[in-house]
Formats: sequence, C-alpha cells, structure tokens
Amino acid sequence: MSKKVRIGMVGAGWMGRAHVSSYMSAYSIYGEKIGEPVFSILMDVNEESAKSSAEKFGFKKWTTDYNDVINSDDVDIVDIVTPNAFHYEIAKAALLKGKSVYSEKPLSLSGKQSQELAKIAKEKNVFNYVGFNMVMMPATAYMKHLVESGKLGQIMRFDGRYDQDMLLDPSIPLAWRHIKKQAGSGALGDLGSHLLSISQYIMGDIESVNAISKIYIPKRPIKAGSTKMGNVETEDYIAFTASYKNGATGQLSSSRVATGRKNYLGVEIQGTLGTATFNLERLNEVNVYFHKDKSIDRGFRNVLLGPDHGDYGMFQPASGIELSYNDQKVIEVAHVLDAFTNGTDYVCNFKFGAKIDTCVATILKSAETKQWEKVEEF
Ligand SMILES: NC(=O)c1ccc[n+]([C@@H]2O[C@H](COP(=O)([O-])OP(=O)(O)OC[C@H]3O[C@@H](n4cnc5c(N)ncnc54)[C@H](O)[C@@H]3O)[C@@H](O)[C@H]2O)c1
Repeated sequence: MSKKVRIGMVGAGWMGRAHVSSYMSAYSIYGEKIGEPVFSILMDVNEESAKSSAEKFGFKKWTTDYNDVINSDDVDIVDIVTPNAFHYEIAKAALLKGKSVYSEKPLSLSGKQSQELAKIAKEKNVFNYVGFNMVMMPATAYMKHLVESGKLGQIMRFDGRYDQDMLLDPSIPLAWRHIKKQAGSGALGDLGSHLLSISQYIMGDIESVNAISKIYIPKRPIKAGSTKMGNVETEDYIAFTASYKNGATGQLSSSRVATGRKNYLGVEIQGTLGTATFNLERLNEVNVYFHKDKSIDRGFRNVLLGPDHGDYGMFQPASGIELSYNDQKVIEVAHVLDAFTNGTDYVCNFKFGAKIDTCVATILKSAETKQWEKVEEF
C-alpha cells in the first residue's frame, strides 16, 4: 500500500489547477512508490473560487484563511500557488509550524527574504521545494550531461533568452504581474527566472551582472474595456551580461512583448569542443555540434530526446513520441512526492530558489545603477 501524502493548497488559479492535475498524473505514471496524493484542504482569498475549485479538484475541505491550512493535522505538504507577493509570508508561517512546503517560483520578492526562507527550512529540517519545472526537462538533463561529461570541452558561453508576446497588446489590462509590490519584477521574474534556473543547474553560480531594462507599454487599462489607465511598474524587457564563477560568460535576456515569440526559451552553450542549442518551442529536441567530427561531416545534429534523457522514459518508450509542456510539471510533482515519501535527492530546494531570487534582485539593481553588480554569496 502506498503512503498517503496529504496536500494543503493555497491558491486556486491557473497553477493551482496545474498542480492538482500533475499530482494525479504523477501518481498514475510513476506509480504508488512515490506516495499517493490526497487533497485535504484548499484555500483561496476568493470564497467562490475556493469553494467551487475544492469541489472540482476533489479537496475534502475549503477555506479563505491560510492559517487553516498550515494548522491542519491533515496536511503534510503546504503547496503555495498564490501570486508572488504572498509566497514569503505563507511559506514562513508554514515552515515555522514545521510543515513541509512546495512553493511556486519565486520564493519571495527579494533575495534576502528567500535566503531567510532557505535558512528556516534548513533549521526546521523539513522538505522544501520551489517550482522551477524547467530544471526537470529531459532537454536540461541532456545539456547538463553534455557539459559535465566534458563533451563540449571548456564552457565559454551560456547565452539564453526567454521571449513571449503575451503582453504585446496594449489593451490587455493591468494585473498583479504589472505591479512591483505584487510581482517583484516583470519579464525577469516571470520568464527570465526560468532561464536563470537552467543556468544555475548547468553552469553554477553567477558572480556579477550588468543589466538594462525597459517598459515599452507604460500604461494599461485598469480593467478590461476601461478607458481609465494605470501605470505599469514592472519591466517588459530585460537583458544582462553575466560573469560565471566557472570563468564562462553569458548574455541573457527576456521579453514579454517579443512580437511573434510565443514561448521561446532559447539556450546556446558554447564550449571549446562543441555547442548545444535548445528552444522550448521544440522541447523534445537538442541540437549539438562536435568540433572533433571530421571537417567533411561537421554540422549541427538534431538529437530527438528519448528514454536516455532525464525522466523521458517514464512517459514514452521511444524518442519521437514527444513529451508535452505539461509533462514538465508532472515530472516536478513526481520528484516532490518521491523526495517527500522516500527521501530522494532533489535539486530545486529553497537554497536553489534563493540563489535565483538573489540573482534577480542583483540584475534589477544593476539595471537601475547601470553598473556591474556583484551577486551576494550565501
Ligand atoms: N512554474 C511555472 O511555470 C509557472 C507558471 C505560471 C505561474 N507560476 C507561478 O504560480 C503562481 C500563481 O500564478 P497563477 O498564474 O496561478 O496566478 P492566478 O492569478 O491564475 O491565480 C492565483 C490565485 O491565487 C488567489 N489568491 C490571490 N491572493 C491570494 C492570497 N493572499 N491567498 C490565497 N490565494 C490568493 C487568487 O484568487 C487566484 O485564485 C505565481 O507565483 C506564478 O509566478 C509558475
């Protein structure tokens, strides 16, 4: 019989729904050894949403007070899927109660607060996971293998961009993602942080950064159809140069108004022996070039990802059958359940999340000071 893992969820929006369906898929795909998710209690500040989502998702209870979740004896993991501004307060309260926490990214709105959460989680010795799902992609696993095996030689560059055009239309109204106090940052925190998570996993720590940012659409309707306009406070675009501890350099950028780009997270890793490239819009492929090939054969080869790469084989028996974007979250949730149930190692702990948030804070600072800024070590 599998161990039950009782979930208390805080937030019932887009990601709340994604987490619920991922728990169910993870259990059916990975099997009972990872533990059986049980939906104990769902909280949302919106009473109607809490009630109707609890019924739809199969939670036993619902509430509008997160204290009911963190104080519940029926909850093993507090799963935080609220807008960014509330992660810190809820995660801290849950950790101090000795609860395990799985939080969506970012951990908080500041590097300092995320570092504090990582420290408390360590002191309390409880399970702590932050939802950087792209770290778990088979493509990321393969690129990490290419770097760590030395197949690409000494790494010189990590270049990347994460571009979407989801906010290109100026009639899209203001939402929490546009307000600094609620989101922390714009394209950087929302999209660029995923790029930073892949970079952190494959390349290790960034030492210093030099950034530029821009708000291209400074005003938006305060609500759909309104002629009253409000200020956009978070960046539409950010670009930065990075200096890595391992001696490599990076050029990274992110835009949420990138005309024509739908979900373009592109990575290029150049080493002295080879280069690997990846684009999330083709998430089952990595292109790789090896300088050691005879000059007559040199060129990028397209590797269709398959059971040799990361968790791909849990989903499909052969390459070419393809994983979907949602499968990333399923892989993540499977690792959450497995780590909680069986104590298996996991990458995306709160310290990992705090490293990303510290980078984000330093990049934002550099965009303001227009100078190189050092990333704090901790
Ligand atoms: N990992 C990823 O790929 C990914 C993708 C999208 C969003 N996210 C993250 O997930 C989080 C949620 O994003 P979303 O897109 O689901 O947002 P959303 O706006 O769709 O849903 C947020 C929900 O939280 C509720 N809420 C608001 N304030 C609350 C509070 N104080 N306490 C409890 N509930 C509250 C809202 O009523 C809403 O139901 C964000 O932190 C976001 O950065 C991660």
